[in-house]
Amino acid sequence: MEFHIAVLGGDGIGPEVTREAVKVLEGVGRAFGHRFHAEYGDVGGISIDKHRVALTPQVRDLAGAADAVLFGAVGGPKWDDPAAPTRPEDGLLQLRAHLGVFANIRPVKVFPQLVDSSVLKPAVLAGVDLVVVRELTGGLYYGKPKGRRQTRHGWTAVDTMRYSEAEIERVLRVGFELARQRRGKLASVDKANVLDCSRLWRQVATRLGKEYPEVALEHILVDACAMQLVQRPARFDVIVTENTFGDILTDEAAVLAASMGLLPSASLPDVPVPGQTVRGFYEPIHGTAPDIAGKGIANPVGAILSAALLLRYSLGLTEEAASVERAVDQVLSQGCRTPDIATPGGTKVGTKEMGDRIAAALG
Ligand code: NAD
Ligand code: IPM
Ligand code: MN
Repeated sequence: MEFHIAVLGGDGIGPEVTREAVKVLEGVGRAFGHRFHAEYGDVGGISIDKHRVALTPQVRDLAGAADAVLFGAVGGPKWDDPAAPTRPEDGLLQLRAHLGVFANIRPVKVFPQLVDSSVLKPAVLAGVDLVVVRELTGGLYYGKPKGRRQTRHGWTAVDTMRYSEAEIERVLRVGFELARQRRGKLASVDKANVLDCSRLWRQVATRLGKEYPEVALEHILVDACAMQLVQRPARFDVIVTENTFGDILTDEAAVLAASMGLLPSASLPDVPVPGQTVRGFYEPIHGTAPDIAGKGIANPVGAILSAALLLRYSLGLTEEAASVERAVDQVLSQGCRTPDIATPGGTKVGTKEMGDRIAAALG
């Protein structure tokens, strides 16, 4: 079969890791007889430098017309002036909103081969296999009013956390559906002791819970969840939460896996139904890593596993997705290690060699 993939590498290590994900997709194409047409576009800081905006209408339309979008990361010190009229991150937020991808699925798997790379104790990591469903197109990131203005008492800034019942319900459904397909446990994370958005969230979750009697629903406050994520992570199956909380909790969850460079994500505009495909947006959860950009040592596994999610959710290529995941597992078992997951006795590899080895292990 033939597919069109919009490839938006972005800034910093974004293009470095995305290149390896494309390489793996090409390997899948050869192994399984598909053609993936990669259509490249600039987004983020590179687009600001060339076009003065973080996302041009052309690239937005390229993303909207593709079967799926493979995204790297955007941002960096060059564009970090707090007074700048636009930022690279605006391009990413505009794309997510334009594509309507409200459900950001972030699987957190601990590879047994990497337990010794984590700062956490092996006993804490045993049995960790969870998924965070992060609401992606609402909350503080998009709520109006938003902005800064000068007052008689100096500058004032405002961001608004706003959620409608419909926005809450659709993302909670994704959480319930995934929980039903997995171990039947859903943790709905909020701050209902303080925030009205969270109290509405909790009411909707409780109401939906009655439709899913096979799912054990619990409510957890976000601060307590942050603690339990490192104290007893194996107790979690599916976590569902609003945009900002999900952003923060998933960087924390990356510590379980051992590195930011390992976690993939899929952002979908609908509740995933097994056997059905939907246009999606796929990106590793990490950023542009300015501290290692250009050195050829970034871990491409998060980007490559994002490509596997792309094959599964947007192209319906289940076998192919599983073969990518197996190839990653195999290469990690062989001891291949980028510096972020270095283990004594491991084979040190860079970004490109990691990608080459994973592509070669596809079967
Ligand atoms: P970051 O995720 O870029 O880096 C955090 C740490 O993790 C760094 O030490 C980095 O070296 C390491 N790391 C990240 N990815 C890695 C990989 N693949 N392999 C090895 N190590 C890796 O977060 P940050 O430093 O807070 O942000 C840098 C820039 O990236 C900011 O401009 C931020 O806005 C942007 N950002 C973009 C996205 C995105 O586009 N989706 C996500 C997060 C941050
Ligand atoms: C992420 C990033 C983005 C977010 C930034 C770069 C806008 O941190 O994808 O996790 O906060 O959503
Ligand atoms: Mn983040």
